[in-house]
Amino acid sequence: MAEWVKETDEEGNILQTKKYDGKYYVSHFIGNIKDHLSAIEEMEVRDDDTFLLSYPKSGTHWVFTIASMLRTRDTAYHGSPMFMDFNEMETLNNMPSPRILATHMTFDRLPRQAREGKGKILVALRNPKDVAVSLHTFVKKLDHSDVIATWDGLLKFYVEGKMVYGSWFENIHAWDKTKKEHKGDNLMFLIYEEMKKDLHSHVQKMAAFLEVNTEKEFVDLVTHKCTFKNMVAEATNSFKPSDQWKTATTSKTLPIYRKGEIGDWKNHFTVAQNEYFDKIYEDKMKNSSFHFMFE
Ligand code: A3P
Repeated sequence: MAEWVKETDEEGNILQTKKYDGKYYVSHFIGNIKDHLSAIEEMEVRDDDTFLLSYPKSGTHWVFTIASMLRTRDTAYHGSPMFMDFNEMETLNNMPSPRILATHMTFDRLPRQAREGKGKILVALRNPKDVAVSLHTFVKKLDHSDVIATWDGLLKFYVEGKMVYGSWFENIHAWDKTKKEHKGDNLMFLIYEEMKKDLHSHVQKMAAFLEVNTEKEFVDLVTHKCTFKNMVAEATNSFKPSDQWKTATTSKTLPIYRKGEIGDWKNHFTVAQNEYFDKIYEDKMKNSSFHFMFE
């Protein structure tokens, strides 16, 4: 069963959330965690389901928006994904097809049928320095955050794994393992920095992977709609944040879009923080097959 924990470091940074089986989960994860994880494991997967997995702040909304436009052939802005983590099984089972089901967990927590090859799995990854900055600016916008920390405090929590969904490194190691072991062809990795450099070819590759029509005009339109500028405009002008987001922030706006750039970490990391992080990155990533650009 999950337990509620409140952990404070010597500088007064706080992590208060649910912990289960040695791992921290976001506080609004459904119920006692154990039962919801079992229900997800046994969930009935549909052939046209798409699972979207990401460590928080890795571009989940971006990949979700592209995938929903491709899957539905509707280029209207689709808002935020439905997370398996925060929605009851009945709600997930009642979603119309084609479903896109998001989670911040890794492959081992997907429904068994998906792990065995049913449906498609998209994985959004992003360089860990920009993820850390995005995470810190995000939690500051929330009225009730699980993490109450200075930038320096959050960076330490993030590296040491005292974060909801664990450390970025734990996640990437889990993806290395999946990459090696998963036999199916239903898994696609999407790297934020590469998408930023060539969105069009990524939309095209995603369309092929999701087995949807790849006619040029449609791919061009989805690419145009999914630039940072256009997604921000849609989120601001036409999308009404769901009740969940409305109560999450004082601003009552979707707290997702910020800069949408590669390399904003340079405006936040001190020289000492960067040296600390680089040393850990070098050590923890030496056997990884993933390589990230720190531009
Ligand atoms: P920043 O805070 O660095 O701006 P998630 O959806 O996983 O929460 O990720 C949010 C991050 O993705 C934010 O990063 C957000 O601005 C960025 N993002 C969202 N849509 C994007 C797009 N179309 N292009 C580039 N970045 C995008």
